[in-house]
Amino acid sequence: MIPFYIPYCSPRQQKYVNDAMARGMLQGDGHYSQLVCHKLGELTGISQILLTPSASHALELAFWDLKPGDEVIMPAYNFPSAANAVLRAGGKPVLCDIDPGTQNLSPYAVEALITPRTRAVCLTHYAGVSCDMRAFWGLQQVYGFLLVEDAAQGVGAYFENVPLGAVGDRACYSFHATKNIQCGEGGAYLQRGNPEVFQKVLMFREKGTNRHQFMAGERAFYSWECMGSSHLMSDLNAAMLLAQLEDLEDVTRKRLELCAAYQQGLAACFARERLYPMEIPRYARGNGHIYYIRCRTPEQRQMVRNALASRNIFCATHYVPLHLGSMGRRLGYQYGDFPVSERTGETLLRLPLYYTMAPSQVAMICEIIEKVIA
Ligand SMILES: Cc1ncc(COP(=O)(O)O)c(C=O)c1O
Repeated sequence: MIPFYIPYCSPRQQKYVNDAMARGMLQGDGHYSQLVCHKLGELTGISQILLTPSASHALELAFWDLKPGDEVIMPAYNFPSAANAVLRAGGKPVLCDIDPGTQNLSPYAVEALITPRTRAVCLTHYAGVSCDMRAFWGLQQVYGFLLVEDAAQGVGAYFENVPLGAVGDRACYSFHATKNIQCGEGGAYLQRGNPEVFQKVLMFREKGTNRHQFMAGERAFYSWECMGSSHLMSDLNAAMLLAQLEDLEDVTRKRLELCAAYQQGLAACFARERLYPMEIPRYARGNGHIYYIRCRTPEQRQMVRNALASRNIFCATHYVPLHLGSMGRRLGYQYGDFPVSERTGETLLRLPLYYTMAPSQVAMICEIIEKVIA
């Protein structure tokens, strides 16, 4: 049996979790949370980092200050978290089509959707492969919007030499069990510059209070100052996360090796255009989060899936484009609005990929695929 994924397990995570319990202070922003933030700071060069219960929570922090009617452009081929965060803040998600090679937002399609109400563009770095940042930085200079990165899948990946999570103004990471580095459920919010805004984010995540100043010894008590919520990660999760993050390089290297093995094993299918490969542009240094193929038709995808499942090998499709669910329709979208996203939704297949997977298992999967699509 080859499952679609097995969560990474660090050899030190149990020790750190036991230590966190022995310290007896498991609330947010504790000992291990501070160590994780420091480590993420070293990785990204960003100093304003907050651990959150998930990337979805971090996206809520990224969009909390939208004004009613503010528009945020984001890919139609996407997880719903960014769209939810925008709606919860009173903004309007504006869906946009993607590039068929990378499944990332197309800068051309984005430019066509910019209006005077565009407050932000939300970039999802799909599969840990960077968006075309030169193009988006160029658009940002002209139109002056906020760049928010949904780097949920992007820990340990780069645009040229800049880590994802540090190429925009605000960003999120996910440490969900399915991610390269995980603590069951978890996330992080990263913000470049604008310390006054960050102070407000700190209040928002601490139930709308100035508790962070109280904890820093800057005031004798804390009080309710604005509308807020609770967006903190338990130190128990942070302890596990620290152990995992210490292994980031090794985990990334191993996953990239497996991706390279897939790429080599399927090279003949790609050359004959029986299948299409994922594209990794020269500017992107991936983290091997996902290895996917694009099938020629939905039927071919089902055939590949069935052939693998009959050998107890499990693959996964991915997003149903946002405009095709009830919420997307309620926003006024319909089938046909984003043809590339629709095609990707119908034909993309993610193949098994996890740290303990053997290259021989990759070779076996490639052989089965090659036979079934011959
Ligand atoms: C692009 C993207 N954004 C956000 C999320 C949500 O992450 P979390 O489960 O940590 O909230 C995911 C989850 O897979 C994702 O793929």
